[in-house]
Amino acid sequence: MALVDTRKMFDSALKGGYAIGGFNVNNMEITQGIVSAVAEEKAPLILQVSRGARAYASMAYLKAIIDAAVAENPNIPMVLHLDHGDTFETCKQSIDDGFTSVMIDASSRPFEENIKVTKGVVEYAHDNNVVVEAELGQLGGIEEDVAGVSSDDVSEHLTDPDEAVEFVERTGCDSLAVACGTSHGAYKFKSEPKLALDVIQEIGERLPGFPLVMHGSSSVLKEFKDLINKYGGDMPDAMGVPESAISEAVKMTVCKVNIDTDLRMAMTAKVRQVFAEKPREFDPRKYLGPAREAIKAMVKHKLHILGCAGKAAECS
Ligand code: G3H
Ligand code: 13P
Ligand code: ZN
Repeated sequence: MALVDTRKMFDSALKGGYAIGGFNVNNMEITQGIVSAVAEEKAPLILQVSRGARAYASMAYLKAIIDAAVAENPNIPMVLHLDHGDTFETCKQSIDDGFTSVMIDASSRPFEENIKVTKGVVEYAHDNNVVVEAELGQLGGIEEDVAGVSSDDVSEHLTDPDEAVEFVERTGCDSLAVACGTSHGAYKFKSEPKLALDVIQEIGERLPGFPLVMHGSSSVLKEFKDLINKYGGDMPDAMGVPESAISEAVKMTVCKVNIDTDLRMAMTAKVRQVFAEKPREFDPRKYLGPAREAIKAMVKHKLHILGCAGKAAECS
C-alpha cells in the first residue's frame, strides 16, 4: 500500500472512539522501532517529520527510510505528515516532496493572520490531494518562546471554542490541533498534571465529527525517567500527561495524539544503560539496537492506550 492521507483513519477513529499515534521520526532506528510495533499490533500509523528532523537527517534520507517501511508493510496504512510547518513555503515543499498530510502551525500569529496563512496552505494541499492539520490556541513548550507565553499563564491561551468553530469554517482545514494545557517536551507541569479536557469536550460538541489533535501528549514514562536518572542523567522534575487523561480525550473527538518525547526518552534511557553497564562497548549497533527495541515496546503499549491496535484494516 502506498502512503495514505488521514481521512479514512480519522473517520474510523471517530466512529470507533480511538486515536491514531502521530510519532516523530528523526532517523532509521526510531522509524524501525515504531514501524515494527504497528506491524505487530496491526495498527494504523502517522509518521511525522518536523522541520528539525528535515534539517537533521535530510528529507531524501528520511523519505527513503519511510518508503522502505511502506514497502515492507503493505497491510499497514501509513501517513507521512509534516509536524509544525511554520510557513506556506515549508508546507508546499513537503507536499512537493510527497507528504500526504501537512500541519500549518500559524497559532502564534493573530487570529486573522492564522486564518489567512492556513487557508493558503489548505488551497494548495487540497489541489494536490493532501490534508491539512491547523492549530489554534497556544501550547506551552516550544511555543512559549514564539508567543512570549510563560507556563504560568498558559491557561489563558487555551483554544477558544467560538474561535475554533469560526476558524474551521473559514479555513477548510481537515483537522485542528487544540490547546488544552499540554506542552512539548519532558517538563509539562510543575507539580500536578492539569488538563482542560472540558475545552476538548466543548469544541467536540460545537464541531461534531470534526477530528481534533492533541500535541504535547507524551507521558514521560517512569521506566525511562528512572533509567535516565540512574545512569547519569538529570531529569528528576520531568513530568508528562497521564495516560488516563489521554484515554479520556480519545473518548471525545481527539483522533490524533502526538508523541515524540517518550520516543526520545526511551532511546536515551537505553543508550545510557548500555554505556553505563558496558563501558567497553563501542559498536553503535549494540546500543542503538536496544534503543530501537525499547521504542518498539513503548509504542506497542501506546497503541493500546490510544485504542488503535488491531485497527489497520478498517483504516485502509
Ligand atoms: O513539536 C515538537 C516535536 O517534538 C518536534 O521537535 O522540532 O525538536 O524536531 P523538534
Ligand atoms: P511531546 O513532546 O509531548 O512528545 O509532543 C510531541 C508533539 O506534540 C509533536 O508535535
Ligand atoms: Zn507538537
